Amino acid sequence: DQKSVVFLGSINMDVILRIARLPKPGETIAMTDFHTAGGGKGANQAVASARSEAITSFVGRVGADEYGKTMLNLLQTSGINTDNIKVDSKSVTGQAFILLQKSGQNSIIINGGANQKIKKQDIFDAKEKIAAADFAVSQFEVSMERIEEFFIAAKDAGVKTILNPAPAKKATQKLLGLTDLIVPNEIEAQELTGVKITDETSAKKAAVLLADKGIANVVITLGSLGAYCYTPTFKKLIPAFKVKVLDTTGAGDTFIGALCSVLENDLGNIREAVVYASRAASLAVQHLGAIPSIPMKKQIMKR
Ligand code: RIB
Ligand code: NA
Repeated sequence: DQKSVVFLGSINMDVILRIARLPKPGETIAMTDFHTAGGGKGANQAVASARSEAITSFVGRVGADEYGKTMLNLLQTSGINTDNIKVDSKSVTGQAFILLQKSGQNSIIINGGANQKIKKQDIFDAKEKIAAADFAVSQFEVSMERIEEFFIAAKDAGVKTILNPAPAKKATQKLLGLTDLIVPNEIEAQELTGVKITDETSAKKAAVLLADKGIANVVITLGSLGAYCYTPTFKKLIPAFKVKVLDTTGAGDTFIGALCSVLENDLGNIREAVVYASRAASLAVQHLGAIPSIPMKKQIMKR
């Protein structure tokens, strides 16, 4: 059956500068090429959910500028319900300046803009959308207070909550207590637990600490190693698919959006859902840019 997922999160225009390496202080270098592409962790995850054929809606803000128009249009044509995206006349649309280095590493500088201006009223206005969903999903590019309010609205309506604590930041215990499933990468999991994660054993150690904080279900993504699952019924590392990596921007977001689109409400199929999400992410890393690289369900199934 078709899943319904509501996202609270960021919408960014990604400004991608491809460079051989980072400039040293005081140095001037030439870029290899320049692109813009839709991005923002919230938007990326919602697009991944919609492209995997889940009913998808979004709570957020864009600015009253060209990037805002472009992003709203991109989300709509991707099949996302944008009724709860407000146009903030006083802010710019979120921007991410991505320094994509030849090594495959990227360094990102964010201008939060309208993403930082989401109001409590915006969450209140989305109450019906939240209550109608199977999953409510958020990340750390919007204020933690708003995420708490969003998760409270979800829990009140019996909707499961999924937190992607990215980019890495300490979370309030209140927020962790409202989270049914947390999906950090190794760096974010370390930020939350203090455990340096290098392998399955250390991932398990961090997962146990997160479970101790009151989160019943934990999936720690480990890049090329795979994803470590720790739920009441399934505790295991699921290896990643081996592919040639071009650009990892948005791959983690693709994993999360794809995951929500196939996950059963009781998370009983976590193993199958993580395999599906890993396939989706392994396709995304083979293309440049966040939203342009997010695959459709058809492509994920035939991989
Ligand atoms: O997770 C990837 C995203 O992080 C990019 O699309 C960029 O907008 C940054 O927010
Ligand atoms: Na990509």
